[in-house]
Amino acid sequence: MKIVKNLIFGIILIFLLSCTNTKEADLVSVPCTDEFTYTDCVKTIIDNNCIICHNSNLNALGPFPLETYEQVKEKTQNGNILARIQLPDGANGIMPQTGKMSQANIDVIVTWANKGFLE
Ligand code: HEC
Repeated sequence: MKIVKNLIFGIILIFLLSCTNTKEADLVSVPCTDEFTYTDCVKTIIDNNCIICHNSNLNALGPFPLETYEQVKEKTQNGNILARIQLPDGANGIMPQTGKMSQANIDVIVTWANKGFLE
């Protein structure tokens, strides 16, 4: 009986340990090239973290869509994206509203802007 109990305990422990803190949405799945284009680097991050609210559906939570290169570029240049994603976690106005992204994701968007918004 004791062996069975230990076995069950072990399985539960392994299960719990395998639940890490890394959010799936935070991972950049497309290889980001040195050129830092929207298509290779930025789109996946926006798709995974923003368009759930920032889309063109009538009932979208976000006030504007971030579905295309032009929209994301425009809102990065004139719409506070860089400021909002870099606020301290938990701060009023942080984007995504659900919690700050990984520093790696933030760095990709900042670098993309610094390199001139390549498509
Ligand atoms: C859970 C829903 C949700 C998610 C996810 C989300 N937003 Fe928002 N966003 C909102 C809402 C609602 C507002 C309007 C209220 C406000 O300005 O804070 C907003 C406002 C903004 C603004 C304000 C523009 C201005 O006028 O200053 C920016 C920029 C922005 N979002 C960018 C993003 C980006 C980039 C992401 C992904 C990294 C993101 N949001 C993810 C809901 C969301």
